[in-house]
Amino acid sequence: MDHKRTRIYLDYAAATPVHPEVAAIMQAYSSQVFGNPSSVHSFGREAKTVLEESRESIARSIGADPGEVCFTSGGTEADNHALVGTAFASRRKTGKSHLIVSSIEHHAVLGCAEYLASLGFTVSVVPIGGNGVVDPTDVVRCITPDTCLISVMHVNNEIGTVQPIEAIGSAARERGIIFHTDAVQAIGKIRLSFRSLPVDLLSMTAHKIQGPKGIGALVIRRGTDLDALIHGGSQERKQRAGTENIPLIAGFARAVTQAMSDVEASMRHASELNEILIRKIQTAVGDVIVNGDREHAVPSILSVSLDGGRYAIDGETLLINMDLRGIAVSSGSACTSGSVQPSHVLQAMGRESRNASLTIRFSLGNQTTHEEVETAADAFIDIALNAAR
Ligand SMILES: Cc1ncc(COP(=O)(O)O)c(C=O)c1O
Repeated sequence: MDHKRTRIYLDYAAATPVHPEVAAIMQAYSSQVFGNPSSVHSFGREAKTVLEESRESIARSIGADPGEVCFTSGGTEADNHALVGTAFASRRKTGKSHLIVSSIEHHAVLGCAEYLASLGFTVSVVPIGGNGVVDPTDVVRCITPDTCLISVMHVNNEIGTVQPIEAIGSAARERGIIFHTDAVQAIGKIRLSFRSLPVDLLSMTAHKIQGPKGIGALVIRRGTDLDALIHGGSQERKQRAGTENIPLIAGFARAVTQAMSDVEASMRHASELNEILIRKIQTAVGDVIVNGDREHAVPSILSVSLDGGRYAIDGETLLINMDLRGIAVSSGSACTSGSVQPSHVLQAMGRESRNASLTIRFSLGNQTTHEEVETAADAFIDIALNAAR
């Protein structure tokens, strides 16, 4: 039996297969366009054209101006650039040094906030209710005259909840505070127009939308004051020095165009599959906990927990048992799944750690089939029922 063909991949929120058209573009630009975009000669100009056309197509797909798109090495760097860049510029220019982040941010934001706290910045972490959605009034309550930045993600990577970024962004704007949103998990799931959102800084990455790893962008609204993280040449309007990676950037552009043109169809497909998963699992495992408010969540992410007191299995064994049956799912966020720790998101939502660590995240992609989710649900049900005390 071909092992590869029997495997089922339901971890699209961690990584996605590179789209064949993206791979073809990257291949072509790796071998054919090798000039340095900063060079004046025709080889350089050719690379510069690809760079600027890619920037334009990304900007068009998300309703931004091309000059607002600053390429980075991915979502982590974009988040670091937003937080550290704003904090440093603000402290130097206005003396303000207070930041607000939500408790369910990705580690790329939370780790950065901790780093800034170690440098003397003050950080408020907004608490979250059991539904996994940040309440804008809780954010407003944290604002002080010293606040320079608010960072709340668009879509949570562990439970899929969509955050009220318009309300939070408007509150920030009224007070002249810079608002950053990590939209890594929103691109391709939610139609967005950067121009009409009250957002100053927006992070994105290619590898969640069938693009390559190691490339992303921070979209920076014109006039937003932030320092560069990487200093040197004057690439990316002096926001990020270093020779641009043309094949990755061209692949990223194709992935964004593709993902944003298919948002509605992709989410309809994900909704159907999500319903099958929930219905099957809830029917067979009556006490399963579905994490996060499903009314305010993308359908491509479904996180379920079992009560650790009622099931004689731990999170890691649950995950390994799924893998042994050929089903790739995650225990929570990709970055913590190497070691199965209770999820900081579920803990922030008030879950006891015995439930928080007995959690599976199914994440669905355009390639996912009905048959795959049926098989995955059956496997989960079987493992759970066998472990019931
Ligand atoms: C919400 C969120 N932000 C940031 C990142 C980090 O992005 P990257 O892997 O491109 O550094 C991830 C990746 O899992 C994510 O889900």
